[in-house]
Amino acid sequence: MMKMNVLSMKNNNVIFFWWFGMIVKFCFLLCACSQNTSLRGGLKKINNLGSTVVVKLNTENKQQLVVDNGIVSVTLSKPEGYLIGISYNGIDNILESEYKEHARGYFDVVWNELGKHGKVQRIHGTKFSVIVANENMVEVSFLRSWTSSMTGIDVPINIDIRYIFRRGDSGFYSYAIFDRHEGMPAVKVDQIRFVFRLNKDRFNYMALSDTRQRRMPTMRDVKTGQVLAYPEAVLLTKPHNPQFTGEVDDKYQYSCENINNTVHGWISLDSDPTVGFWMITPSNEFRNGGPIKQDLTSHAGPITLSMFVSPHYAGKDVTMEFEEGETYKKVFGPIFVYLNTASSENDNATLWSDAVQQFSKEVQSWPYDFPQSKDYFPPNQRGAVFGRLLVQDWYFKGGRFQYTNNAYVGLALPGDAGSWQTESKGYQFWTRANAKGYFKITNAVPGDYNLYAWVPGFIGDYKYNATITITPGGVIKLNSLVYNPPRNGPTIWEIGIPDRLASEFHIPDPYPTLMNKLYTKKHSDKFRQYGLWKRYSDIYPNDDLVYTVGVNNYRDWFFAHVTRSTGNKTYEPTTWQIIFEHKNDIISGNYTLQLALASAADSNLQVRFNDRSKDPPHFATGRIGRDNAIARHGIHGLYRLFSINVSSNLLVKGKNIIYLRQSKADTPFQGVMYDYIRLERPPAI
Ligand SMILES: *[C@@H]1O[C@H](CO)[C@@H](O)[C@H](O)[C@H]1NC(C)=O
Ligand SMILES: *[C@@H]1O[C@H](CO)[C@@H](O)[C@H](O)[C@H]1NC(C)=O
Ligand SMILES: *[C@@H]1O[C@H](CO)[C@@H](O)[C@H](O)[C@H]1NC(C)=O
Ligand SMILES: *[C@@H]1O[C@H](CO)[C@@H](O)[C@H](O)[C@H]1NC(C)=O
Ligand SMILES: *[C@@H]1O[C@H](CO)[C@@H](O)[C@H](O)[C@H]1NC(C)=O
Ligand SMILES: *[C@@H]1O[C@H](CO)[C@@H](O)[C@H](O)[C@H]1NC(C)=O
Repeated sequence: MMKMNVLSMKNNNVIFFWWFGMIVKFCFLLCACSQNTSLRGGLKKINNLGSTVVVKLNTENKQQLVVDNGIVSVTLSKPEGYLIGISYNGIDNILESEYKEHARGYFDVVWNELGKHGKVQRIHGTKFSVIVANENMVEVSFLRSWTSSMTGIDVPINIDIRYIFRRGDSGFYSYAIFDRHEGMPAVKVDQIRFVFRLNKDRFNYMALSDTRQRRMPTMRDVKTGQVLAYPEAVLLTKPHNPQFTGEVDDKYQYSCENINNTVHGWISLDSDPTVGFWMITPSNEFRNGGPIKQDLTSHAGPITLSMFVSPHYAGKDVTMEFEEGETYKKVFGPIFVYLNTASSENDNATLWSDAVQQFSKEVQSWPYDFPQSKDYFPPNQRGAVFGRLLVQDWYFKGGRFQYTNNAYVGLALPGDAGSWQTESKGYQFWTRANAKGYFKITNAVPGDYNLYAWVPGFIGDYKYNATITITPGGVIKLNSLVYNPPRNGPTIWEIGIPDRLASEFHIPDPYPTLMNKLYTKKHSDKFRQYGLWKRYSDIYPNDDLVYTVGVNNYRDWFFAHVTRSTGNKTYEPTTWQIIFEHKNDIISGNYTLQLALASAADSNLQVRFNDRSKDPPHFATGRIGRDNAIARHGIHGLYRLFSINVSSNLLVKGKNIIYLRQSKADTPFQGVMYDYIRLERPPAI
């Protein structure tokens, strides 16, 4: 907070903040000494606050510029805007100097013209300009404008990449502005990201959450390993550190939901000085696919990514598509690259917790008030929506209103209920409702949205039946909203927990020879192990899963309905059975099978009632899903709900069998993950 004040200060505040800075510095030194803290990054940072160290921009060199705030010194190529060097705490370059200048820190876009192959394109500016340069802050711009002579070569979007360096910051900010105007051709964009490739001799320890951090194999280890079922999945056969021998490494094992993709990065554990390099993302508003879309973080290389848009764990369903002449404007970021340093035995813990603290500080300052682009919406131009969401399910707790404790509530571009999970072009603003269902969405960018929600513990998607127009400074107060989740009758039985995940089901032990030791038996992320899809054929070599209501519970349900390997790279469809006893007479009318899927990969799920070979099946999803969560060790992809009417004449008094057949079987990665299944009686009359 204080940092912000210093930067947004008016002249008459300078003296006050200088003194304030000195007092803070003094207090910090006091407690630093008394606690014998080993954290030098934080100390240095505070030291520079209000000190005489100012931000200096040097543009004398024709091909490069250097920005130095006394803590970090960053060299960028001119006019391209590639990050050539980050010097910090006596280290000449945090990035890998062995790579070419355009391959150390850069921004890239994966795009394709309709009907053509995708291109990965590093965006290089063609026009460099200094937006602001004073002693408190430097902002520079690397603009790549599109002209028709670039047709087919460069992505038809004007892209302005910005870097911000502020006095006293142990790091720098970066963001990108996308701008399309009339006259630009149609284009599809699959991916937008920043990439940082760190010094490979230093950075050896990676951290992305309290429980997901470890020493990592090197890029060389990965390159010399044995490629498994996907090029990204590698068995380490000749690692530099023999401890990794026989482990599997795959960058997708370090994926994470947007909502948790907050701070991740690397530590140089055995080098002197020990430093941390962190990607801090203070908001998800600019990422695609909503709060539980998953994406990559950091991975062997050492590489740290900032993913803004990607098809990961969703597939082509989330591709951004622009029509010819379609105009567009969006700001991706700012994100904060943070550096810290420490010098005790426990460096990794110290640096990680300091990075997490820095993340909290960034969140408190969000939305930032210092980015200079006129397309960026500062705090005073944003609006808010307050409200309360209740849920009413006629056959649950007597139909009384329930608080949507922890419901996800968000704004996204107008669409159908649930459309936010495949929405990639607009901003999204999400929050969680509190214990009584109250929610506050703040800092939303002006524009038209729908308000969407989903409630863990209930199926389906909520959408508020009116457009929400956010205006600068406007606060919209909604009355109590009521979500009536899909429900046609009382529950006969249910399998699983409606939370859009398959994590409650049976996750098999991994092959001991194909482990990532980060996710040991007790780790809650056991599903991230490699090759679990294959374990199905081990456990069910001949006959498929049979689940008997009243005998089995959901922990017996294999987490993914995959194909069975029949050897020699051939696969066969599998048919799962749910057996249940209908003790009473059948009630005439429609029963309902609520079938919620957590993921689908090139599948066709067919549902039959008491007739294994009914053709056509009583119900089929048709070909669905490209989220690839099975192959990418995810526990969910996109959510889908099917409410299937089951005519009462398909069921009998006594034993019934529901057959679930996933009929497409060309690869080991095809299949679905169930979220939750429920059979309902016909509506009570
Ligand atoms: C985010 O991380 C927390 C802590 O690890 C975990 O409990 C939670 O389930 C995660 N959220 C999502 C949406 O994955
Ligand atoms: C820090 O690294 C050491 C050595 O690799 C490890 O034993 C320890 O568990 C790590 N600490 C944390 C918080 O991960
Ligand atoms: C939703 O809005 C439309 C148009 O205003 C209206 O016809 C419809 O009745 C509304 N539905 C609900 C459930 O409020
Ligand atoms: C496996 O399939 C290939 C190609 O279909 C065939 O040439 C080969 O003989 C098969 N191997 C075995 C052991 O069946
Ligand atoms: C039962 O469902 C069918 C469609 O599957 C529908 O045509 C019929 O009207 C429904 N019957 C009742 C009683 O709701
Ligand atoms: C399915 O059945 C329910 C209740 O029996 C009925 O209200 C609904 O209209 C039916 N849906 C379809 C698509 O037939």
